[in-house]
Amino acid sequence: MRNFEQSAQVGIGYRNEIHDWTLANLASFDLLEITIDHYLVGGTARREAIASLVGQIPLIAHGIGLSVGTAVLPDQTYLDNIARALDELEIEWYSEHLALTKVPGIDLANLLPLPRTEEVVEQVIKNVNFVRSRIPAARFGLENISYMFDYPESTMGEAEFLNLICRETGSYIMLDVENVVVNARNYHYDPRSFVDSLPADQVLEIHMAGGFFFEQTRIDSHSQPVPQETLDLLDYVLQVCEPRSIVLERDDRLGAVDEIAADVSAIRDVVGKEAVGKGYENAKPAVA
Ligand SMILES: [Fe+2]
Repeated sequence: MRNFEQSAQVGIGYRNEIHDWTLANLASFDLLEITIDHYLVGGTARREAIASLVGQIPLIAHGIGLSVGTAVLPDQTYLDNIARALDELEIEWYSEHLALTKVPGIDLANLLPLPRTEEVVEQVIKNVNFVRSRIPAARFGLENISYMFDYPESTMGEAEFLNLICRETGSYIMLDVENVVVNARNYHYDPRSFVDSLPADQVLEIHMAGGFFFEQTRIDSHSQPVPQETLDLLDYVLQVCEPRSIVLERDDRLGAVDEIAADVSAIRDVVGKEAVGKGYENAKPAVA
């Protein structure tokens, strides 16, 4: 188990739509997570806005365009562009989804789950090793996604699949706590058992978010306040894991900044409670 001198750093996913609000409230965050694809292809204004954050607050990176589950190696130019962007933004941590977003020549414009088979594991390991060889300066992490369907040919569980690929490639786990709650609800399993199945010392980054119900299905929409159930699971995660960062993801209803501030405060409450229990001296108080 690693030993941190302080509790997890809390921040939000940077969204250009609330750039001014984010800057005005920068002291409320320990770090910001930028979407590296937005920096690469989001246009000059967004690129400059992201670049302006360097030196003001620590940054980490999350990607949406890698498609690590595609059955061919990732595009080398794309990876080289990410490596250069991470260098320019002084970022050392880069995470992506354990998912499929494209097949050769076609962008599917969605995060799709992967069949959890030995064959897919082999391909993903090849792909991740290629990513790491092209971006050697950054730590690379893989995130558990939420999914709306599953494949009958899967031969292993979600945690087994994620653990195996991360272990074989030296990747850390970006644990999306809301995705665990969503999947556990939709596929009828115990979210705490899923957390228990992960190697605690490899859970180095965390995502939090809030969604809604459509009939009996829970949707991961990043549009609502973080539910208490997800905060409670974060509390459980922090009893066994010592992540370096916890990031709130909000992608819809961004104008509801009071909800974002309240979510950050609620996350800090959970972190602070666990940090006190672990004897950290400089656990930050909740945001006012
Ligand atoms: Fe996430």
